[in-house]
Order: sequence, then C-alpha cells, then structure tokens
Amino acid sequence: MNGSSGRTAIYLTGFMGSGKSTVGRTLAQHLDRPFIDLDDQIERRESRSISRIFAESGETAFREVERLALTALPLQSRPVVATGGGIVLSRENRLLMDRSGVRVWLNCPLAEIVRRLGNTAGGRDRRPLWSGDPQELGRLLEQRTPAYASADLSVDAAGAVDRTVGEIVRWLEGLGE
Ligand code: S3P
Repeated sequence: MNGSSGRTAIYLTGFMGSGKSTVGRTLAQHLDRPFIDLDDQIERRESRSISRIFAESGETAFREVERLALTALPLQSRPVVATGGGIVLSRENRLLMDRSGVRVWLNCPLAEIVRRLGNTAGGRDRRPLWSGDPQELGRLLEQRTPAYASADLSVDAAGAVDRTVGEIVRWLEGLGE
C-alpha cells in the first residue's frame, strides 16, 4: 500500500455510529497523515447539511454527491478517510476505494451502535436514515453487512478507540507500512 501500488488512502467504512471519524482522527494522527471526513466534504461541496440534501433532493442525489466527493479526494496526500455508512452500497465506490487504497471495516454490533446513536442527538443532522427504531437499523445493518465485510480488514470497533487504532496500525505494519 504505497506510492508504487497506487493504493495510497486508508478508507474507514462501517455503519453509522461505528466510530469512523473518531478512529480516523486518531489513526491519522498516529500515522502523521491528513484526516478527511467525507461527510464534511459533501456538506462543503453542497453548502448544506446532509439532512437537508436528503430532504430537498433525495437519497439518490445524495449518493451522487457522495460518489463525486470520493472521486475528488487528494489521494497524493495519502489520507485517512472516514466514509459515510452507505458508501459501500455502490460497487463503483467499492472498486474506486480498492484501486486507490485499503478498505477497513469498523465492525460494531447493533446494540452498541444503538447505544451510541442514542447518545448523539446532535448527529441527527447527518443521519436522516437513523429513525430511532433499532429494528429498522438492524435490518439496514444486515443488508449492508456483506458489502462491509468485503473490506481488506475487519476490526472490532465495539471497544476503546485506542485498541481499534492499534489493531489497524499492526495490520498496516504487516503490509510494510
Ligand atoms: C449514511 C451515513 C451517514 C451519512 C448519511 C448516510 C448511511 O454517515 O453519510 O447520513 O447511509 O449510513 P455516518 O456513517 O458517518 O453516520
């Protein structure tokens, strides 16, 4: 995963509430790489919140902006990228990530996700798909799990951030990073 292979980015994927932004920030600091939150990029591109994009333009339009934001990443800076929970739904997005970096799945059980999302009322602006119904969330997680699981690495994201980061760092070291 270096300049010669062209796979320069580290993409953190996983469901809402799996800790992609928190883990990503810590990992980037540890590796001395820039951190990019793709949802931030989307909101900046559109000058409106993710909830507003969903409400005014619909999910299909959101997915298109998400795809564009993914293709516009400054890959030469070898960023650590926290992606949105639905990015893996598109095969094209998965291929894009796999060609330009490594894909890590922050695997977090539903109960922990529900607990975390319940504690982040402010995050709702970013999460129109979080209805507050754990069963609905469970169905969405189940549907998406095969796409998440096709990542290069799956890490347990239910515990402490430092442990998750440590696991990713050890794996990267094994790749010669
Ligand atoms: C989404 C997850 C959100 C955000 C958008 C759609 C999803 O990001 O991209 O609300 O489809 O799961 P987080 O995973 O960072 O919450």
